[in-house]
Amino acid sequence: MLPDLSYAPIRKVLAAHTPGPPPRRSTINIFVVDIQPTGRYIRPMTPREAASRSTVVDLFCGVGGLSYAFQAEGFRVVAGVDTDKTCQYAYEANVAGATFIPDDVTTISGARLGRLFGDSEHRVLIGCAPCQPFSLYTNRDEPDRRWRMLEEFGRLVRLTKPDVVSMENVPRVARHAVFGSFVKVLEENDYHVRSYIARAHHYGVPQRRSRLVLFASRHGEIELPAPTHVRFQTVRDAIGSLPPIAAGETHPEDELHQCRAVTEQNLKRLKATREGGSWKEWDDELRLACHNKKAGVSFRSVYGRMKWDEPSPVITTQCLGIGNGRFGHPEQDRAISLREAALLQTFPRTYKFIDPNAYRGAVHIARQIGNAVPVRLGCVIARSIASHLRDVAM
Ligand SMILES: C[S@@+](CC[C@H](N)C(=O)[O-])C[C@H]1O[C@@H](n2cnc3c(N)ncnc32)[C@H](O)[C@@H]1O
Repeated sequence: MLPDLSYAPIRKVLAAHTPGPPPRRSTINIFVVDIQPTGRYIRPMTPREAASRSTVVDLFCGVGGLSYAFQAEGFRVVAGVDTDKTCQYAYEANVAGATFIPDDVTTISGARLGRLFGDSEHRVLIGCAPCQPFSLYTNRDEPDRRWRMLEEFGRLVRLTKPDVVSMENVPRVARHAVFGSFVKVLEENDYHVRSYIARAHHYGVPQRRSRLVLFASRHGEIELPAPTHVRFQTVRDAIGSLPPIAAGETHPEDELHQCRAVTEQNLKRLKATREGGSWKEWDDELRLACHNKKAGVSFRSVYGRMKWDEPSPVITTQCLGIGNGRFGHPEQDRAISLREAALLQTFPRTYKFIDPNAYRGAVHIARQIGNAVPVRLGCVIARSIASHLRDVAM
């Protein structure tokens, strides 16, 4: 199966590192003895069983979108590392048994990471280094301290040599030298490296979000499965059944179904915007100065409403404000709520974000939700690794 490399700017970088020597196969044969009423029989391991023999540590874990997905696919997730202590409650409340380590990844030593992995059969190091320095929304060329985080990821790989590494980021990361250096570190340490551009809506996420997914394994190449959805999940599928709320309201039975208040002027703007529309349809008196400047062209989605029957735009950390993107509800006069953002990111309804003992406010939760790897995409990543581990054990 061919990887999806249609994102033109990264073709060159990928061409430089995707071809490699044929995958090495482990010689260990692992079969499972099953006992059924009809007797004992021996069968090959399932991907889930291979996952259950693997220990996962998540660097830059946030509230655990990616860790949760790995756990849901059967992996033993032991710890997540993140500097943002506001993520601890949600991480530990949802990723059962995993410890949140509130430390800077730059301070984690190889020995400490090694202890976290323990003596598990397979070590899997996953992570989604902060994307902001590479994202479209921060169009800066100057080096950013956060770029170093990929170097730190590489340092920990060199020191602990996990069996499998997975890194997720915005596609633009591949344009930066730091990405090339990361791949080089992996290859110099005998990893087979493959990168893919995964479009989340091709895998059942009701959101158009493209992400670079890098897999590196010491045992051979890991393939991302072909897209599973030709009929995309939509905004209606994800949030259409939620009860209506007004701007500034919290639903009495769902604390996460809360949205930001809007000013009188923004209420007029919302009323003047049809489903799927934006400020382009407004009369002049509703427009902001920036809309009438040339620069306004690059912000055509701001103050826009989502479309019911399409996937949503990328849910960002700023998704609570209509002035920050196309975050208007398709028909109610407000921006989307935290619950809606979480559902568009495919967090299950049971995911706990609000610490009953220390509610820190909607802005923190929006940041955590917007930063996350959509759970459904995380499951696809986890399943790819589980299948690979099963295959190399055969
Ligand atoms: C893109 S988010 C990760 C989202 C997470 N993988 C998920 O699925 O929910 C990146 C995270 O990196 C964290 N971070 C940034 N710099 C860090 C550092 N030096 N050490 C540890 N964590 C850091 C941020 O606090 C943020 O939560």
